[in-house]
Amino acid sequence: MKITLVAGARPNFMKIAPIIHAIKKITQETDHQIEYRLVHTGQHYDEKLSKYFFDDLNIPHPDANLEVGSGSHAVQTAKIMIAFEQELLNHPCDYLLVVGDVNSTMACTLVAKKMQIKVIHVEAGLRSYDMRMPEEINRMVTDSIADIFFTTTPEAGYKLIKMGCDPANIHLVGNVMIDSLCSNLKKLQQPPVWKTLDLSDKSYYLMTLHRPSNVDEEKSLQELIQLLGEQAKGKPVVFPAHPRTQKQLQAIGKLPDNIYMVEPLRYLEFIYLVKHAAAVLTDSGGIQEETTYLGVPCLTLRENTERPETITMGTNELIGIEPQNIINAFSVLNNNTWKKGNVPLLWDGHTAERLIFQLLKIDAQSCS
Ligand code: UD1
Repeated sequence: MKITLVAGARPNFMKIAPIIHAIKKITQETDHQIEYRLVHTGQHYDEKLSKYFFDDLNIPHPDANLEVGSGSHAVQTAKIMIAFEQELLNHPCDYLLVVGDVNSTMACTLVAKKMQIKVIHVEAGLRSYDMRMPEEINRMVTDSIADIFFTTTPEAGYKLIKMGCDPANIHLVGNVMIDSLCSNLKKLQQPPVWKTLDLSDKSYYLMTLHRPSNVDEEKSLQELIQLLGEQAKGKPVVFPAHPRTQKQLQAIGKLPDNIYMVEPLRYLEFIYLVKHAAAVLTDSGGIQEETTYLGVPCLTLRENTERPETITMGTNELIGIEPQNIINAFSVLNNNTWKKGNVPLLWDGHTAERLIFQLLKIDAQSCS
């Protein structure tokens, strides 16, 4: 069985790493033959968004880097498609495996499908139903043409069935990103900012903001940051900023005194800060899951989430960016009455192995 694995942007790397490790383990320990080829589209190219993740997560160097870089959605998607078609012509495979919801996920799915290659979508069935988010469009397009769906929760499976997927093609395996978290918990590294700011357990907030809806409009970003700085009430807010957010912040000028912007962190450093934070303030998708696993309060600065289990079961709350909602959430935090959460079923660090064994079964059935 030949599989091409695609990773393109930061949130893909921690999902692809455990899949590669599982393939290696299963081919070493059993008679199963799986050949894989790792393709990096180059959607993210800064060392801090890409290379360091490969190093930290022990991912082998990609077999190909398409080096597409940045551009408008149309330009980036088109460049990935053109380069990936050539990649598949040069290196045919039985399956394409894509993860998550970034532009690379959708672009490579479209190319492979038209070349009659079976597409496996890992983390299928997530929906925010917010078509203003490019990721929602990527998820919907990918799920509408993929062949095999690996899901993180039962809810994701129901959503796929509702859109017409055959239940036989949906497999609840758990969360590969939590595999990465589990396998790296003992290797976490204290980032330099810990000493610089004299941080200690639960003495600070950690913040990430990169959604276009939050950062692209200068005035609303400034108001949001001002309010978050005030509500933190003197606690430091460590803010590793994505390149697009950094650009916007330069236009804004001075940040509140207790907000400390730093460069994007390496995976092992970032999770270290998540684990010890009093709470995380974020508009990311994956961080909602990581905080749920670690039991850290998470204030999601968005109006919706494609990961509702992090709210119904976990430590996450949708706060949005309405000032009163933010003030109320901080008052719960300050009273030490933030809810305690549970970890969803099968988020146990063994998802990638379940996934590969299931794939081998599917492949054997299709050959018989
Ligand atoms: C992408 C994903 C988003 C994910 C995020 C995580 C899509 C549609 N979005 O958003 O779901 O949460 O990654 O980081 O795929 N840039 C750099 N260096 C880089 C990459 C980007 O400076 O290595 C800058 C460029 O100015 C670029 C901008 O960031 O124009 C946006 O990058 P892009 O890849 O288009 O999307 P992200 O915002 O990173």
